[in-house]
Amino acid sequence: MKYLSFLSAGESHGPQLTIVLQNLPAGLPLSQDDVNHDLARRQRGFGRGGRMQIERDCVRFVGGVRHGATLGSPLAMVIENRDWPNWGQKMAAEPPTEPVEKVTRLRPGHADLAGAIKYAHDDVRNVLERASARETAARVAAGAVARRLLAHFGIEVRSHTVRIGQTEAASPEILRLDPSGSEQAEIRAHWEAVEASEVRCADAQAAARMIEDIRQTRANGNTLGGVFEVVAYRVPIGLGSHTQWDEKLDGRLMQAVGSIHSVKAVELGEALWGASRYGSEVHDPIEWDAALGWRRPTNHAGGLEGGLTTGQPVVVRGFCKPISTLIHPLPSTDLATRQPSPAHVERSDVCVIPAAGVVGEAMVALTLADAFRQKFGGDSVAEIERNYRTYLATYQP
Ligand SMILES: Cc1cc2nc3c(=O)[nH]c(=O)nc-3n(C[C@H](O)[C@H](O)[C@H](O)COP(=O)(O)O)c2cc1C
Repeated sequence: MKYLSFLSAGESHGPQLTIVLQNLPAGLPLSQDDVNHDLARRQRGFGRGGRMQIERDCVRFVGGVRHGATLGSPLAMVIENRDWPNWGQKMAAEPPTEPVEKVTRLRPGHADLAGAIKYAHDDVRNVLERASARETAARVAAGAVARRLLAHFGIEVRSHTVRIGQTEAASPEILRLDPSGSEQAEIRAHWEAVEASEVRCADAQAAARMIEDIRQTRANGNTLGGVFEVVAYRVPIGLGSHTQWDEKLDGRLMQAVGSIHSVKAVELGEALWGASRYGSEVHDPIEWDAALGWRRPTNHAGGLEGGLTTGQPVVVRGFCKPISTLIHPLPSTDLATRQPSPAHVERSDVCVIPAAGVVGEAMVALTLADAFRQKFGGDSVAEIERNYRTYLATYQP
């Protein structure tokens, strides 16, 4: 992300996560509550483990905001880890005064082995602390700010769970079409039901099966994966570009969502379905409506063609592997002795698809906001508003 970049630092059981977001325009109304709202959404969800009972993620702005609005300078945020005091010597920045036990039993499905070899560590904790999905709280904080910027221009980013394990939820096509007229109320009701669901799934029957499956899986000492879907509404035509490989927004979105912990595949629109169909079934016809402008009766492409947004909702799915840490640990090997040894077990979630969807929203929002900053430039929100209005007038009725 070159036009709205963010960096984060901090270990899972260190004192805090630190986030710096660069190139926000000045004059964007922003409160810590905007960010805390999304941080709380990431922490919820049936299937989370003990850590989420300890943390009450809360952001503190330490740069870039004054009197409730951005200054145009880097936005700096911190999220304290409430668990940190329990980790004293184990995570101290200074050399410990007494020996600290090393983690050497490698966990399959984690960065442990390759991270230890690459960085020449003899204590896997030096890898697992940063590889941990605790880092996704930083992404959600940065993403909440990106959402705030997009929302100022009418763009809304939503997500829901579409699969956990073997259970697939009904996901009406209407959700992925340009919302117009009476459909708006139905779409709003869907997203409200998602936020009220423990697994962030509006299909009540499927949600009940998902919860039961997670309960059973936890009792069996196992874990589950699944699929989340992110939908962004009212995205203008022409974010991204067809002109250079790394400018293509489809590729940028896949990288952003594919980088989320446990995501192993990313789908844009109905790509998996389309791969086994004829072209005549897959491509979305183009229409002009004198009142509504450019329209597409279908949105199989998920709002992206040729690396550019089409003006239809942007639809991105993340496919997550089951959580790697198992209560009955997998066979593995000890890094120090190279002798067979069961994997190290660290307190763990059973299923994170509801939370992963919130992280997916953040990464989609950050990527769209990056492309938005690229297209409309400007140092203040007022300047972007002028640029945006002028551009929309070139293609809207
Ligand atoms: C919100 C969220 C929470 C996660 N919590 C855990 C966890 O408690 N235990 C675990 O083993 N993996 C968890 N993961 C997944 C691991 O972080 C991830 O599988 C691991 O770092 C290896 O990276 P990879 O799956 O991208 O290859 C979580 C992922 C997300 C998105």
